[in-house]
Amino acid sequence: MKLLINIDHIATLREARGEFEPDPVIAAGICEIAGADGIVCHLREDRRHINDRDVRLLREVIKSKLNLEIAATAEMIGFACDVLPDMVTLVPEKRQERTTEGGLNIITHKLLLNDVIQQLHSKDILVSLFINPEPENVDNAVELNADIIEIHTGNYANAINEKDSINELAKIGTVARLGAELGLTVTAGHGLNYNNILPIKNITEIQEVSIGHSIISRSVFTGLQKAVEDMVNLVR
Ligand code: PXP
Repeated sequence: MKLLINIDHIATLREARGEFEPDPVIAAGICEIAGADGIVCHLREDRRHINDRDVRLLREVIKSKLNLEIAATAEMIGFACDVLPDMVTLVPEKRQERTTEGGLNIITHKLLLNDVIQQLHSKDILVSLFINPEPENVDNAVELNADIIEIHTGNYANAINEKDSINELAKIGTVARLGAELGLTVTAGHGLNYNNILPIKNITEIQEVSIGHSIISRSVFTGLQKAVEDMVNLVR
């Protein structure tokens, strides 16, 4: 299983002072040295952490792969087509949320997503759809010609007892198998940490995970390189 590191919260810390450090571009280099397979950042409409300069520099600097998370708005799609990340993950975005709260509502936004996916494909950018673990989302992702699905693992991560956790894991497993059968690349993310990653790793159809908060939090105490290496050791 591959590990992509979301570095948004390095930028959150920078923005806490509105100055220039810590720099997410330097963080990305350290993540790569520590064995990360790619870097993820979410350019939000309100630029609350990652900003345009970060994404442009990351595009130039990183040697692994850049996964740009964005909402499917004209501004963001235009930016992505200019910067050319290796892949774009389309996520729903609400101004007031602290973090992405759920997967895309594909049915409601099908026409828009169809158009956006075509625009990104015309620039050879792979497209991932962030989805809740429901089988109909996989069918819709295939219909829309998406390349990748990222299964939202938030409910699994937040499960308050073992029964709920097992149920959520089963849903993730079903959707992962369906996605792989239908030819999609299957990834997962949200709320994954050092304690809950192993059952996800055991779902062999999941090729990649995207993890941010737990790794950046641990890095405050252990240093970023060690925090990434510890997670690399768990996912490999
Ligand atoms: N995947 C997506 C689509 C996300 O929006 C986020 C949070 O930015 C993550 C993965 C990473 O989640 P976490 O920070 O909880 O590891």
